[in-house]
Amino acid sequence: MDKRRVLSLRHVLMLSLALNVGLILRLGYVGENWRAEQSVHGLCLEEKQYRNIEASMVDCDQKVAHVSKTKLVETTTWSTSTAHKEVEDGGGRVINLDHGDPTMYESFWQQMGDRTTVVISGWQYISYFSDVTKLCWFLEPEFARAVIRLHKLVGNAITEGHHIVVGTGSTQLFQAALYALCPPNASEPMSVVSAAPFYSSYPLMTDFLESGLYKWAGDAHKFSKNRPYIELVTSPNNPDGSTRQAVVNRNQGILVHDLAYYWPQYTPISFPADHDLMLFTVSKSTGHAGTRIGWALVKDQEVARKMTKFIELNTIGVSKDSQLRAAKILQAVGDSCDPVGSDEEVQPFFDYSYILMEKRWKQLRAAVKNSRLFSLPDFPTAFCNFSGCSFEPQPAFAWLKCEGEIEDCESFLRGHKILTRGGKHFGVCPKYVRISMLEREKNFDLFTQRLSTIQSW
Ligand SMILES: Cc1ncc(COP(=O)(O)O)c(C=O)c1O
Repeated sequence: MDKRRVLSLRHVLMLSLALNVGLILRLGYVGENWRAEQSVHGLCLEEKQYRNIEASMVDCDQKVAHVSKTKLVETTTWSTSTAHKEVEDGGGRVINLDHGDPTMYESFWQQMGDRTTVVISGWQYISYFSDVTKLCWFLEPEFARAVIRLHKLVGNAITEGHHIVVGTGSTQLFQAALYALCPPNASEPMSVVSAAPFYSSYPLMTDFLESGLYKWAGDAHKFSKNRPYIELVTSPNNPDGSTRQAVVNRNQGILVHDLAYYWPQYTPISFPADHDLMLFTVSKSTGHAGTRIGWALVKDQEVARKMTKFIELNTIGVSKDSQLRAAKILQAVGDSCDPVGSDEEVQPFFDYSYILMEKRWKQLRAAVKNSRLFSLPDFPTAFCNFSGCSFEPQPAFAWLKCEGEIEDCESFLRGHKILTRGGKHFGVCPKYVRISMLEREKNFDLFTQRLSTIQSW
């Protein structure tokens, strides 16, 4: 064989080997780097959260017993803490803030470690039934106890005189409530209304099955029929964070109060709610959206019975595994803010979440101010009976308005690779968008940094 041909073949082989080794090393490096970034992020947060200081909440000098001795120390602003991340990102990453997925709570629950681990053996909780002597026969007593205790500690709802109905998220309970509140033989479907901007799922959930019992009738402000109706009152409201009361106020009206966000990280707890039908969920209170557990507090026994029937026919009860997990989570939240016997090592959940929400709102307002193309609603300060402090609501969603000539705010932001939900989904004009404030830290930082640099349309 020709010596030169053998040599060049060898060269090709060597070159290919070198390229492959280089590629493998590069992949390894990228992987390591990614993992390192994740753990550094986690560590920083942990370190911050556990710095012990005297006071628990910013701008609050009068403390009540259940307020903590620990808090997250926040010294940086978006401009200093996140600038490098945007540079790393180069503005090319899509930031999805369309859904209200509460991943921001993940880091708190990571710190809690095994305190919230639930172990269920294969032989346990295999029955359909929880307590057949109770109206809601699939309600786990442990979950019910945790709900009652937490409402007492927080002071956001009266549980006495109410039946607890558990649901697969408050989404199932919403549908159960519509079914239970409508007379079975009315001459036409009951109108379901809510003041715009309303939660975008209400019209979709109401009309999905084209029920003959009820029908979506839009903005409560525009409701003029002199017939029975159901008004959905969401307070604090999704999407705009406002504190709300019923707006139609006619004598044939039935109210459903959706209190998914009536928790002290989002809004001052001014009074314990005592409405006829109230909906709550772990999705937004503790961040456990994936557990799919909600609960209704219902005064009227017949309504509670019919809601239970709906869930029986819909899913034959509610997952016991999920109820037990939710019970454990609610107990942990209760323990963390119970003045009696709370664990000194554990940061009260509502301190952690309040401080994080406060920081995010400051960060967002600074970004909006810097950009000048947008505006946000202002909220009145109110006293919170739970924390003993006065503060402005800091909602789970930001209701952002595009100012000037930008008519379609959702499209405009999409052009900057920021995904939001536009005003038309909430029954108002497209100059508004809803932005989730509950994203993971890194995405939220990236978002505020990017928003602050958008200077023209
Ligand atoms: C006002 C309101 N109610 C109910 C829900 C749904 O709660 P769940 O996850 O318990 O079904 C949401 C979720 O975004 C909401 O914003």
